[in-house]
Amino acid sequence: MDKPKKLRSAEWFDTPEYYAFSRKAWLRSEGFGRHVFDGKPMIGICNSWSELNNCNAHLRQVAEAVKRGVWAAGGVPLEFPTISLGEMFLRPTSMLLRNLMAMDVEESIRGYPMDGVVLLCGCDKTTPAQLMGAVSAGIPSIMVTGGPMLSGEWRNRKIGAGTDGRKLFDLYRSGKLTEEEWVDVEGCIARSTGHCTVMGTASTMASVVEALGMTLPGCAAIPAPDSRRLEIAERSGHRIVDMVREDLVPSRILSRESIENAITVNMAIGGSTNAVVHLLAIARRAGVPLELDDFDHISRRTPCLVNVKPSGEYLMEEFFAAGGVPAVMNRIADLLHQECITANGRTIGENISGSPCWNDEVIRPRQRPLSEEGGTAILRGNLAPDGAVIKQTAASPHLMQHRGKAFVFDTYKQMLATINSPDLPVDENTILVMKNCGPRGGPGFPEWGNIPMPKVLLDRGVNDIVRISDARMSGTGFGTVVLHVAPESAGGGPLAAVQTGDEITLDVPHRSLQLHITAEELNARLRQFVPPPPHYTRGYGKLFLSHVTQANLGCDFDFL
Ligand code: FES
Repeated sequence: MDKPKKLRSAEWFDTPEYYAFSRKAWLRSEGFGRHVFDGKPMIGICNSWSELNNCNAHLRQVAEAVKRGVWAAGGVPLEFPTISLGEMFLRPTSMLLRNLMAMDVEESIRGYPMDGVVLLCGCDKTTPAQLMGAVSAGIPSIMVTGGPMLSGEWRNRKIGAGTDGRKLFDLYRSGKLTEEEWVDVEGCIARSTGHCTVMGTASTMASVVEALGMTLPGCAAIPAPDSRRLEIAERSGHRIVDMVREDLVPSRILSRESIENAITVNMAIGGSTNAVVHLLAIARRAGVPLELDDFDHISRRTPCLVNVKPSGEYLMEEFFAAGGVPAVMNRIADLLHQECITANGRTIGENISGSPCWNDEVIRPRQRPLSEEGGTAILRGNLAPDGAVIKQTAASPHLMQHRGKAFVFDTYKQMLATINSPDLPVDENTILVMKNCGPRGGPGFPEWGNIPMPKVLLDRGVNDIVRISDARMSGTGFGTVVLHVAPESAGGGPLAAVQTGDEITLDVPHRSLQLHITAEELNARLRQFVPPPPHYTRGYGKLFLSHVTQANLGCDFDFL
């Protein structure tokens, strides 16, 4: 194996100045022997473990496995913490802090003596945040995602965190589930640590980073408690040492082609709409040109093959047993750039060649896809000049072309206060519109877009209507939900002009979202627009509001 000309960590430890001595002495205070300074690569283990993030709560054990691999390969592992974004617990939304975590990761890598880094992540935002930071820092990096939790089991029925929880909650709200049954569900829907076990944002992002080549093959779908999760962590620790010697930095892995591979896989797995925002941000960090319309172009040519909730029937455990991401990629090999290099030093084509699929119901063959097109479609029109997103595989077929009258909520709070009202004037043709939920308006671009179904409609057996907002939606969510409308309403986008009673047409096959008022009327209404007061006047919140970009640009800060 070639040795690099000089290790980066030598700038800290191998200089004639006093501080080289003191750095060694201080590190030895942790009990390290002098042999750690004999030219071994220093490997950072960037750990987003936290008890406030159940999805990542097992990562200390994963870190120990990584360390075994690093030592065995002749490196020195040094674990360090970063902030951890627990989707279920963070207010107002973890997305507000994705860029903060990315900065934390980047500056930790930049500031400390490490030659390579292993990134331990899991919950939704932790994966893109770590990758964004590592791409900007630019040293050899490999990701070990934490894996999905075990499938939930309730009364001999498999249930998936997120998707089934929402469905059962609707039954509970409409009195079809008792309080006792609901509490029973609470105890068994999430049976272990690890991220949500449907193809939500976390499973999607794990699959996407595997498709990018930033993990070892097969990493994404291994369940969190499975011994093979620790085994791949150990191998990743071993591999990063060689990546340092090979100078295999993220810029050699991330390219227009590898990002197209990731988008293609996202479409084939029916992945989360959030992947659109994160991939735009990652591409911009990597200096790779990428537009919202690239997603639509790839979606149209890519079949959705993975029959996992919320688009399909199964859960991540079954997806893993069926062969996981390598099996999917092998099935769509002709749609991929197979020459892309990956973290193990081999190409995508070499990695996926011969990867078997063990269950054609979970990973469908090309002749029998779940849908002919990918999961995510990009919409445009006078209501979304800079684009909007819909997860068509999780939407209702009868609503894919729909014209209806808008019922408008000005804020999320107003929606929550009225959605269960018994006299809410809505029917199955109504289009619910919610404003002020975008990057600045939310603030932080929260996952509020999956507006709950009005109780009056649930009581009548109506389970889905068209909903439109500038918010995001949880990857575990479902329904005919138009998201990420850009520019956002709080910034004076056309969404701000919609009034109750206006007619709107959603036409997914033609990728159109149209508000039926004249251009003159639209402009006249927007001239009356008064921006809402800012949510923050100090601190990180103010920084966020001042610099966050819109959804179609990835919501990164404009200076990053
Ligand atoms: Fe972390 Fe669902 S709450 S992935």
